[in-house]
Formats: sequence, structure tokens, C-alpha cells
Amino acid sequence: MTAPPGAAQGDPAPRADRRFVIAARRLVTCDPSRASASDPLGVIEDAALVVRDGAIEAVGRRQEILHPGADLEIAFEAAGVVTPGLVDCHTHAPWVGSRDAEYAVRMAGGDYEAIAAAGGGIVASMRAVRAATAGELAAALRARLRRMAALGVTAVEAKSGYGLDEASERKQLEAIAEAGEDARLPRVVPTYLALHALPPEAAGDRAAYAGVVARSWLPAVAAAGLARYVDAYIDRSAFSVDEARPVLERARALGLGVRVHVGQFADVGGAALAASLGAASADHLEHVAPEGIEALARAGVAAALLPVASFTLRQDPPPIAALRAAGVPLIVGSDANPGTAPTESLPLALALAVRLYGLTVAEVILGATREAARSLGLADVCGAVRAGLRADLAIWDLPHENAIVQPWGTPRAQAVLRDGEIIAVRG
Ligand code: NIG
Ligand code: FE
Repeated sequence: MTAPPGAAQGDPAPRADRRFVIAARRLVTCDPSRASASDPLGVIEDAALVVRDGAIEAVGRRQEILHPGADLEIAFEAAGVVTPGLVDCHTHAPWVGSRDAEYAVRMAGGDYEAIAAAGGGIVASMRAVRAATAGELAAALRARLRRMAALGVTAVEAKSGYGLDEASERKQLEAIAEAGEDARLPRVVPTYLALHALPPEAAGDRAAYAGVVARSWLPAVAAAGLARYVDAYIDRSAFSVDEARPVLERARALGLGVRVHVGQFADVGGAALAASLGAASADHLEHVAPEGIEALARAGVAAALLPVASFTLRQDPPPIAALRAAGVPLIVGSDANPGTAPTESLPLALALAVRLYGLTVAEVILGATREAARSLGLADVCGAVRAGLRADLAIWDLPHENAIVQPWGTPRAQAVLRDGEIIAVRG
């Protein structure tokens, strides 16, 4: 009997220390060697994959994998679609507190930048993060990562940026490191974002604050191995290119990658800086001139699209057609944060990228799997279903990948595996 889409039988990860097989009615591999112009996602119908010791050992059509003599049993039969675990390339996940009052003001017409200039916004979250104990912050982050996993997410980039003093930024990075040791949570990629806003004690001197970050805080963070990337918020009411450059150049000199918030409210030249530093991504890009797009394309910098933020800020989309035409890789993140993107849902961001930005479903799936993994330095770890990568998978109770961008706000991942082990399952 064929089970209806959404139903499934078996145990998707019986024992991670041995070989087992997952069969899927439809498998979205995101493997470029299987992709074609008419099938950019490299889909296999009636597929099976073999997991061994947490890694993907083989992928193919069911009859190829389960050939006579293969000595394999199907542990789990997915009646719907299976995809790589989703990869969220941009989050501000380690935060506590709530900015609900500010949100209400903004929804009634209040201006985000004006609220920030009056001491709200990022600095309001800074007060909450500074007041939280390390334990409270780590617990909030772990809970958030667990909820993200339940939405199909198996890897998350997580930024500091709500501490804005040396110790509080470290507290955020240490919470990320602690979560990163938990194999039952999504894998976590830490990003240092001390240049997120100017703390009140800096008395308005952005250059001096950035100088301290570059000379002192950042080298210590790098020496402690607490960050893989460094970010800076480069915009008209945030840091200028000249203020951010010393920090980002220092990051490169210390062997760290760079990913930058640029062009959220105005093009102040951040894209060119990102390109000149060989950044992994330039994020937001609602405002970017053609020369900035060309620079990103030449340098191979991915555009991290954050449609939840532009939705809550009532902004026009980034110049998607021009980015696409220039060949800039498009990735999509949730931007999960307590201000501009009050969600933890990458599937919601994908839905908005399709609805508001006109991306195709294939673009958003690749932008939240293979391309996102590549931008986070995880191309050899996850982001696709192919032999050799870790078995990070989302098993959906949906018949087709097109449906992943439809059920807004409802978790539809049936089981989520990291390293071949279940990290989330729907009861
Ligand atoms: O990506 N624009 C800067 N940073 C965040 C917002 C953070 C906040 O409002 O707390 C963003 O939109
Ligand atoms: Fe952000």
C-alpha cells in the first residue's frame, strides 16, 4: 500500500553507528553533478540513500541502492520529499528580551532608524543581553536552535552584536560555542559582530570604538577560536566603510572570513568593500548600485537576501534581476533577530523570498542549502545529499519541494537529522 504524502513509516535514524537506508518518494539532492537546466535541484524520484556512521555513503534510485545482494534494509520510508537539512546563513540568534513595544510603534508607522537613534533598537537588545547571565543567554540560544531544527534547519550562522562591550560580546560568542558542542542541535557557525551599533559609553565616537575592536577585542576573540567570521553593519546610520575597514582587514589578517551587512537603508559603498576583502557574503543589499553588483560578481561574493527584514521594514526588494544577471550567488537567511526579523523560521524567509523577491523555488532551496553551506565554509560538510557529506537531512510531510514555501508559519518537517541522528521529530 502506498502511504499518502505526509505519512511515513519506520525510524529515520535507528542507530547512527551502523548503516541504514532512507527511502524517499522524492529526494532533492542539490548535487550539482545531478543538476541540469530543467532540474536545477538534481531531484531523484523513488530514491534511496545509505547512511553510515553519520555520513552519506550512497545516493541513487531505490533499485540501484537496494540491488539484490546489497544486504540493506530500509529503515525509513519517506512518503513525501526529502531535502538537505536547511542552512540559515544569517541570524542574530544569541539574544534575550523582547522589543514588542518598539515593534508596535513601528507597525503604527514609527521609523526603525529614528527609534535606534533615540536609544532603542539594537541598543535595547544590548541592555537585555548585558543584564543576562551567561547561563540565561546560552539557554535562550539553545531553545531557539531547537525550534529552528524543528523547522528543518540543521546549520545556523549565529552572530554576536548585542553585547557591544568586550565581555558581553564574548558572553554571546561563548553561548554560541557551548551550543556548538551539542550534537543534538543544528551545527553552529559563529560570527563576531561587535560593529553592530555604537554603545552609549562610546559617546558617539564610532572610529574610536572600531579602533578598539580592531586592535584589542577582535585579536583576543580570534586567539580564543570563538569566531569563524567577522561582520560589520555598514550603513548610513551605522558604521561607514572607513570605520569598518580596519576591523574587517584585521579579521582577514587573522585568518577569519568576512560577511557584512550592507545597503539595508542606503548604499554607502559597503558592497565594494565586501568585494575588495573577498567577503563570503554581502547581506541585505536593498540598496546597491550597479558598480557594487559588478564588484560582488567579480569577487564571487554571495548576496545574502533577508526578506523578512525588508518585509517588516516595508522596503522594496533588492535588485534581484541585476544580481542574478551578474551571476552573484543568491542565498537566503532568516535574519532572526528581535528587531527587524522577529521570526526563527527559515522556511518563512524562503516563502517571502519567493513571494516578495520573485526568486524561484529552486533558487531559494539552493540558497538555503548548498549555496548557504558554501558561503559558510561548510561545502564539504553539508548542504547537499551526496556521498561523502554528513547526513544532515530534512524529511518533510510535504509531497514536493514547492510546498516548503507554502505552509507559512507551520512546521512541516517530520524528522530532521544531523550526522544521521534525529535532532527534531514531530510528534
Ligand atoms: O539584520 N541591520 C542590522 N541588524 C539587524 C537588525 C538587528 C536589530 O534590529 O536588532 C538586521 O536587520
Ligand atoms: Fe542581520
